[in-house]
Amino acid sequence: MKLAIAGGLAAYLLVIGLAAAPAMSQTGGDPDAGADVFDANCGDCHSLSPRGLNKKGPTLFRVTGRRAGTSPGFAFSAPMRASGIVWTPERISAYLANPRAVVPGGIMKFRGLPRPQDRANVIAYLQHPD
Ligand code: HEC
Repeated sequence: MKLAIAGGLAAYLLVIGLAAAPAMSQTGGDPDAGADVFDANCGDCHSLSPRGLNKKGPTLFRVTGRRAGTSPGFAFSAPMRASGIVWTPERISAYLANPRAVVPGGIMKFRGLPRPQDRANVIAYLQHPD
């Protein structure tokens, strides 16, 4: 009988743990929080407008899934064009953590976003700007 109670408790705790996990996950980004990260860190140089506006940096409209350095009408650096990167959320996160390490010789003059949650949030916003 004692064993059954202990087993039931363990199963209960497991269910609670699984239910709480997504809320605490570092990978799930919040697009609303990401809009603030974007405005504070990216908006001077990048636009997300569907009109494909380039500023100091290339448009980031539909950047996810795109091949690096291929957006028309922007003068990318040679290292970016030669990088062979396809911008998955994981690659964008690595680039934002340390732009110079991922594209050495690239021209994005940005110190990087050290906090994983900021990166997850801004990437969620890039994918869902509305
Ligand atoms: C000071 C201006 C500046 C800031 C700030 C900046 N970027 Fe950039 N970004 C650039 C430039 C310039 C490039 C092109 C780099 C190259 O060609 O080497 C670029 C390239 C990129 C690319 C690759 C685009 C492509 O089509 O290959 C992504 C993704 C990106 N930036 C995301 C961001 C995000 C997200 C932020 C904010 C967290 C940010 N950048 C902040 C200027 C900036």
